[in-house]
Amino acid sequence: MTIFSAHNITTHYGKTTILQDVSLPELKQDQMLGLLGPNASGKSTLMRCLTGEKSYQGRVLLDGADRADIERDVWHQRVATMPQSPPNPTALMPTELMWSTARALDLDFSDTELGNRIEDIFDRLGLDAFALSPLHTLSGGKRQLVGLALALMRDPDVLLLDEPTSALDLHWRMVVLDLVRERLAKRGGVAIAALHDLDLAARYCDQIVLLESGKIIAAGTPHDVLTPDNLARVYHVETTVSVDAFGRPLVQVIRPIHQ
Ligand SMILES: Nc1ncnc2c1ncn2[C@@H]1O[C@H](COP(=O)(O)OP(=O)(O)O)[C@@H](O)[C@H]1O
Ligand SMILES: [Mg+2]
Repeated sequence: MTIFSAHNITTHYGKTTILQDVSLPELKQDQMLGLLGPNASGKSTLMRCLTGEKSYQGRVLLDGADRADIERDVWHQRVATMPQSPPNPTALMPTELMWSTARALDLDFSDTELGNRIEDIFDRLGLDAFALSPLHTLSGGKRQLVGLALALMRDPDVLLLDEPTSALDLHWRMVVLDLVRERLAKRGGVAIAALHDLDLAARYCDQIVLLESGKIIAAGTPHDVLTPDNLARVYHVETTVSVDAFGRPLVQVIRPIHQ
């Protein structure tokens, strides 16, 4: 079973404090946490701290061990990251990108196993017909799906996804998050996803953390966090929140609140 947590994360760009004392609830066994907050609230910066791309004060723990003490190969085998920007629109083909990334990460799979994995993921994400098309010929949505395929290729225990569905239409948003949840269930893994869509967060996340200006405003279950008061404070919108047919919060945005 995987256990992932982050404690008292503080970080700066220059002299500006971007995140202040941010702690995430402990995640374990098939749990997904949604990171919500308006633009510039610090979601991507927090993701970059969790992946180790950005330095920070505080602690990120995987199964009780500090990220800084975990060997790079072990970390990359267990933790996969999908950055907010999709792969660049270069002349590289998705298949080439998958193989070269696997080689760069020194993943512990035979060529046959890796080939099968890539084929399976491309099939699930509707990329099979585009596997040999240069990335610059693909739409932004397809390139975002290639970004997700890169993260899923190694069957990670921890998935850190920065707005994984922002360029996708309704069908593919759900396919992607269904696939993420399926992978978590299979391995007892955990995921953290920065999301913009409140409906997706309510549907797919066990816990939600709401950020504003680098501080946590609310944390808990979707019912705890997606309240009209919290949404008015953070997003400056008037909402009504009811309960959908599956017992999840259903947010209806009424109007912006002018400041
Ligand atoms: N490389 C950087 N240099 C300086 N400031 C940055 C940099 N990246 C992000 N920021 C600032 O950090 C804050 C949080 O940004 P970000 O983490 O990207 O927010 P979000 O992902 O929630 O939109 C913003 O004010 C942004 O301008
Ligand atoms: Mg961001």
